Amino acid sequence: MEKATVMKKYESQIKKVLITKEEIEAAIAKVGKDISDSYDGRPILLVSILKGAFVFMADLCRAITVPCEIGFMCAKSYYSSTVSSGAVKITMDLEQDISKYHVIIVEDIIDTGRTLNDVVKLLRAREPLSLKVVTLLDKPSRRLVDFKADVSLFTIPDHFVIGYGLDYAEQYRNLPYIAECDPK
Ligand code: IMP
Ligand code: MG
Repeated sequence: MEKATVMKKYESQIKKVLITKEEIEAAIAKVGKDISDSYDGRPILLVSILKGAFVFMADLCRAITVPCEIGFMCAKSYYSSTVSSGAVKITMDLEQDISKYHVIIVEDIIDTGRTLNDVVKLLRAREPLSLKVVTLLDKPSRRLVDFKADVSLFTIPDHFVIGYGLDYAEQYRNLPYIAECDPK
């Protein structure tokens, strides 16, 4: 396909910017400072849920000014569409023994709540020193299981969103802002 045709379709699915790059930066700077202030020299392990949270993780860890380690898990609940499949599958697990860490789960978005509900249960069973959840976005109106993050940077209405790590059919993760998606 010609580049112009590809770009036309690509751009037409970006409906409206909901949260700008600057708004995201400011919110992350604040959370990074809060974490740096409150963990008081204790061993921190940031656990990011791939793929969606990779951009948030990269920026949040650089806003933290105290020693911290990072780890990745892959949990899948969406399969190339905007509809949740209902099943959460851990396709890649952590390599660390988390019992020596204060774990902070770094998530991109909480929608139905199923993914984090399962991930939190799994990690709690491994008895970390403490466990907290920080999410960039929260769509509380879509909850199917009762789940609340310890820190949520932005609460959004029931729109399917893309950008800053979040995808539609695996694309748009590289947008520097959060936008509403118009799937075509
Ligand atoms: P939950 O298990 O329904 O809470 O869904 C969580 C996962 O679904 C997130 O970690 C995202 O990867 C994905 N997800 C939920 N809502 C959106 C959205 O609006 N855009 C892109 N991905 C989403
Ligand atoms: Mg995710």
